[in-house]
Amino acid sequence: MIFTFIMGSLLYSNFKGAPWVKSPKKSIDEIIKIIQLPNNARIIELGCGTGEVLRTLCRDPKTIGVGVDINPFLIFLARIQNRLKNSTTITFKVGNVYECNISSANVIYVFLMPKMLQKLVPKFEKELKKGTLIISLGFKIPGWDIHLFKTKTVRPYPIYQYKV
Ligand SMILES: C[S@@+](CC[C@H](N)C(=O)[O-])C[C@H]1O[C@@H](n2cnc3c(N)ncnc32)[C@H](O)[C@@H]1O
Repeated sequence: MIFTFIMGSLLYSNFKGAPWVKSPKKSIDEIIKIIQLPNNARIIELGCGTGEVLRTLCRDPKTIGVGVDINPFLIFLARIQNRLKNSTTITFKVGNVYECNISSANVIYVFLMPKMLQKLVPKFEKELKKGTLIISLGFKIPGWDIHLFKTKTVRPYPIYQYKV
């Protein structure tokens, strides 16, 4: 029964546009090394899964994080981790990346398929403040090279940094 629920939930993520594949720990470590977070970072992770990346990026207690994922099972697991780690600055929400409000962010993290990234471009252009940093793991944001300012070609996934 639980197995069926979990499998169904993972297929649901897939059906919605991106399978649940975690950012590898190696990639998260590399991101931490190369990015420069603003002092008052407000990070939104679109398609956050169980929230490992967000928890790592929000190690500074002054950093605020919001994770959004369409899959309620993954958000349930993310919230449990949050409780276990007594984290009060990170919130996880069930939601669709195309519908959530991202205007409060000054950092966005995504590990999503190019088709989803392409669909997010008009939202980025409409809602994000000038200067917002966007980190995309694995895939370039189609048609957005003009905003790309740094690429780190590391295995297994390159890291792309954009600024609005
Ligand atoms: C490749 S996983 C990345 C997980 C996490 N960000 C990480 O890096 O470990 C993509 C995530 O996007 C979520 N997802 C797919 N379509 C979505 C949508 N339309 N809205 C919100 N989340 C979505 C999936 O449930 C999955 O957890």
